[in-house]
Order: sequence, then C-alpha cells, then structure tokens
Amino acid sequence: MNLTQYIESKRDDHLNELYEFLRIPSVSTKTEHKPDIERAAKWVAEKLRAVGMDKVEIVPTKMHPLVYGESLQAPGKPTVLFYGHYDVQPAEPLELWTSPAFEPAVRDGNLFGRGTADDKGQVHIHLRALEALRKTQGKLPINVKVIIEGEEEVGSESLWGFVNENKPRLKADALIVSDTAMLAPGVPSITYGLRGLNYYQIEITGPAQDLHSGVFGGAVPNPLTILCELFAKLHDRNFHVTVPGFYQDVATLSRAERKALNSLPWQEKEFRKTVGAPALCGEKGFSVVEQLWCRPTLELNGIWGGYTGEGSKTVIPSKAYAKFSTRLVPDQDPEKISKRVQTHIRKLLPKTVKCKFEVLSTGKPWVAPYTHPFFEVAHQALEQGFGKRAVFIREGGSIPFVTQMHDTFKVPCVLLGFGLPDENAHAPDEHIALDNYFGGIKAVAHFYQGLGRL
Ligand code: BES
Ligand code: MN
Ligand code: MN
Repeated sequence: MNLTQYIESKRDDHLNELYEFLRIPSVSTKTEHKPDIERAAKWVAEKLRAVGMDKVEIVPTKMHPLVYGESLQAPGKPTVLFYGHYDVQPAEPLELWTSPAFEPAVRDGNLFGRGTADDKGQVHIHLRALEALRKTQGKLPINVKVIIEGEEEVGSESLWGFVNENKPRLKADALIVSDTAMLAPGVPSITYGLRGLNYYQIEITGPAQDLHSGVFGGAVPNPLTILCELFAKLHDRNFHVTVPGFYQDVATLSRAERKALNSLPWQEKEFRKTVGAPALCGEKGFSVVEQLWCRPTLELNGIWGGYTGEGSKTVIPSKAYAKFSTRLVPDQDPEKISKRVQTHIRKLLPKTVKCKFEVLSTGKPWVAPYTHPFFEVAHQALEQGFGKRAVFIREGGSIPFVTQMHDTFKVPCVLLGFGLPDENAHAPDEHIALDNYFGGIKAVAHFYQGLGRL
C-alpha cells in the first residue's frame, strides 16, 4: 500500500482518535480545567510515542505543561520543528452550540467541536501523517522535533522560557505550523504573514463609590460615559486609528504584492456572508483583503461597568472598564505602539477621572519571503492532498511564537493551514471540513516525505 492508499484506508481510525482528543476540555484560561489540561498533555505525549518519537517529554512550566518530542533517525536529512497547541478557547456560550462543544459530531461533511479547527484537528493531521509514514516506510524520512504547547490561547508565556533554555536542542531547518486557515474551500494555502497583537485593559475611576444618580447625577463625572466618549474618539470617520504615530512605521506594500494579494481567488461576497452584518466598514483606501492582512487596527473587545442586571438601578458607577487590542503589521514595534496608545488615551481623558492602564500582552507581526526550496516541496505536497496548486496568503490572526522563532533561529516558517475562515474558531459550533482534515493528512505526509528527498 502506498502512502495515499494507507491514509485513505484509515479514515475511521483517524477520526476516532481525533474524537478522543476533542473530548478533553483543555481550556487554558480556566483553573477548573487544569486536570483536563494535564490529560490533554498526556494524551499528546502518548500519541507522539505511538508514532515513533524516541524522546517524548511532558515539560512542566509555571502554567501549563508543554509536550516535546523528537525523532532524529534520518542522518543527513532535513530537520523540522513542528509547533501546535493542545489548549482551546472556552466553549461559552454553551447554549449556542448545536451539539455539545466537547462531544464531537459530524454534520454535512464537517466535524463539530471545540478545537476541531483551532488547533487540535490540525495538530492531529500531523500526528496521523507521521503515523502513516512510519507504518508504510518503517521509519520517518526526516528528523522531526515537535512542540505542542498548552498556553497558546492565553499568550504562550511559558513557551519562550523553554525555547531559550533549549536553543541548541530545538535547532531545525524550518518551523512547520498548522494553526491557520485556507483562503477558501478547495484553495490550499500557504501563509507567509501574520499580524501581531497587543492586548490592553483600562480601568476608569470617577466617584470614590457608586452614587445615587438622582442625588448626584448632573454634577459628577460618569466613568462609563467618559469611557464611551474615549472609544468614540479612537477612530476617525475613515476608520483610521487616531493615535498619533500609529501608522508611522507601517511598511508600504509593494505594487507587486498588492496586486498578488488582490488577485487571489477570494470572494468578497462570501466574506460578507460569513460576517453577516448589514454592511462592512474598514479603513478607507484599502481593499478588504488589505484591511484584514496588511493594515493595523484597534478593536474594542469588551466593555463593562455599572448595572447590567434585571430591570433598572439608578446609579452612577464608580468605575468603568474596557479590554481592547491592536493588531500590528510590519514594521510596527509593539512596545512603541503600546506607549503611543497609552499616551494618547491619557491625553484624551478629562481630569475628572483616573485611569489605570495595563498592557496584558504584546506580540510582533510576521511576514517573510517564501523562496526557500521547502516551499516548493510544500506546494507539491498540497497538490497531492488537494488536487490543486496552493496560493500564498497573509492572514490577520496572530501566533506570537512564529515571530519569535523566526527572529531567533532565522529559519523559514512554513504555515500550512487546513481551517477555513468561516469555521467559527473561538465561537460556538467550531468545525473543520472533513475534506480538509483528510486532505491535510495526505498533504503533510507527502510534505515530510518530499523533504526527505531533498
Ligand atoms: N490559530 C489562531 C491564530 C490564527 C487565526 C492565525 C486565524 C491565522 C488565522 C490562534 O490560536 C489564536 O487564536 N491567536 C490569538 C492570539 C493569541 C496571543 C491569544 C489571536 O490571533 O487572537
Ligand atoms: Mn490556534
Ligand atoms: Mn485560537
């Protein structure tokens, strides 16, 4: 049996094993799921051993363990480092799921469940590809190092320490990641750019305590109103971010890149359908694709304060809060941007309130050339898996580890995404198209095999 036939013949096995992984609610942000995190790490370690990794370790960290494995049985052949994450986002709001989040279910050619697309399903693609190579060829055609972490969805804090302490050991010819999406169904894609992410929280305090809005209203500052005014001022009518210097270091797209990105087989109609809003809005002067992949943004993620319970309560709250973030593009510097954002916000706020400003996390953007020979191998492999030539895309999401690795090891990063933009990552009814899951296993197996022939 050849590689493709073997993978085809194991479809049920692939899925049943993935179900086990998906049933573990490894939500990294909630302490109550700590035992599930531990279980997921063990599960991954066990599978890595089963696919023939010689050294597999569960590495404890300050927060969640990461799983490291390696197989170095192909002297003279390339070495890749594969990175993924076993942690997932919370499943809430649970009532919006058609079937339970941690009970995988197939409907209409899609597999539903938290983590199917982000990122357990995609990690599993690699596990099964490695398994198929070992079963059909007795050993792996290249040297493989694997890091599967448990803190991606909460900022990958522990990962960096591990990398710094293990630099020689982690050395590889390329970083391989499957934690992104394809441009559209039937369009295999290689991602060569991601935006960076800074995340902030502010607390605005007016009165020393909540006040009766009848007794005090009219003469005292209302922090919630002031917060709303503040956020209304952070964009102008063209959806430009008003923070001075925000765009100062943004690299201009070359004509050639602009043309290439805007002629991809990307359908604005489909995008509008996925969004489902009455109309779109975005920074003036840029196409939607440019707005999503190549332009920085400032987004309000959550805002709270005052009374939000049943009925009414006449109150002027003492405090108001907001969580917000900036997506960054080359050559913006996360530290510089967080300083500029803070300075601007402090300047906009009236003297009637105090403001506590916190930067919860920072992360650099990433864009890299795709000229290394590994990309041609990836191209051919995706063609084997999907019967179509791949396109090169950028994406708007962030994987801080990719930038860190690229900066540290100066190696090519090959991002093979098997999700789709409308698969509800981080939302209810997350799913992955079974065609892309199975096609992914074939493509990745052929990719690793192809690297062995270089
Ligand atoms: N897999 C995503 C990143 C992603 C999504 C890349 C879509 C490209 C397209 C990852 O799990 C994620 O959600 N990242 C977070 C950042 C992280 C620091 C919490 C993000 O992009 O918001
Ligand atoms: Mn992810
Ligand atoms: Mn995610």
